[in-house]
Amino acid sequence: MTDSDSYSDRGNRDRSIANPHGRGDLAGFRAGTARPSTESAYLAGIGMTGGYGKGADILHDCTISVDRGEIAVIVGPNGAGKSTAMKAVFGMLDLRGGYVSLDGQDITDLSPQDRVVAGMGFVPQVRNIFPSLTVEENLEMGAFIRRDDVRATMEQIYDLFPILRDKRRQPAGELSGGQRQQVAVGRALMTKPKVLMLDEPTAGVSPIVMDELFDRIIEVARTGIPILMVEQNARQALEIADKGYVLVQGANAYAGTGAELLADPEVRKSFLGG
Ligand SMILES: Nc1ncnc2c1ncn2[C@@H]1O[C@H](COP(=O)(O)OP(=O)(O)OP(=O)(O)O)[C@@H](O)[C@H]1O
Ligand SMILES: [Mg+2]
Repeated sequence: MTDSDSYSDRGNRDRSIANPHGRGDLAGFRAGTARPSTESAYLAGIGMTGGYGKGADILHDCTISVDRGEIAVIVGPNGAGKSTAMKAVFGMLDLRGGYVSLDGQDITDLSPQDRVVAGMGFVPQVRNIFPSLTVEENLEMGAFIRRDDVRATMEQIYDLFPILRDKRRQPAGELSGGQRQQVAVGRALMTKPKVLMLDEPTAGVSPIVMDELFDRIIEVARTGIPILMVEQNARQALEIADKGYVLVQGANAYAGTGAELLADPEVRKSFLGG
């Protein structure tokens, strides 16, 4: 697929022609339903089905996406498959169905490393820093695909997270939880990604630190980097989300704007504590 217009509303509407994986049933989803129309989104995992190795499927026809200028948030109960969906979009899972597209290109067959080269940054939920390396070494490791001078990018990250400048010579493992998450986000930014994926960036931090992290994430989004983020602080995350997804048992349960989901009685009752 080379014609990015085939993903748009104006283009070819026959999905069996428009996408090489032959899914033809994606038309008709709109915000407020289980799954919004996403074919034209900047980064999208569409109709993803698959699991780990030869194990049972974890994802069932799961669709998540983020468009330019957006913060998209994925929420749902523990074990719903949120991290699995993120890993699938990043290429860490062999999909049995569905596909992943980036800027109109089908990237389903790219390795994670090639996806980084293509412009994706990913902060996984666990083991997202090197604890024994210093803060600065962590950032340098983040720049592994770059051959040019990375110091300007590092300065930008220190401007975004000033505490990391102060602690740059300290082993990252000695930092507080919130500071370690800043290292992880900073490390992902070192490749100058065109889109950033964050899996629970505020896990295990206090409400004040959570608010600060969200402010920094909004700041990153304002620099023009779309953000696809999993959050267990569902209410707060949906407040800053342009678009939200509720995943349950590996499938889309609800989708809409952040405000729509926050106002939806069913979503409130089942996922936001009333
Ligand atoms: N590496 C793995 N190998 C096999 N099964 C896994 C692996 N990682 C997760 N799973 C299984 O996949 C399912 C979904 O897990 P996943 O981590 O994606 O959920 P989650 O929504 O991110 O949960 P949480 O809110 O706890 O982070 C669970 O049943 C889990 O046991
Ligand atoms: Mg998870």
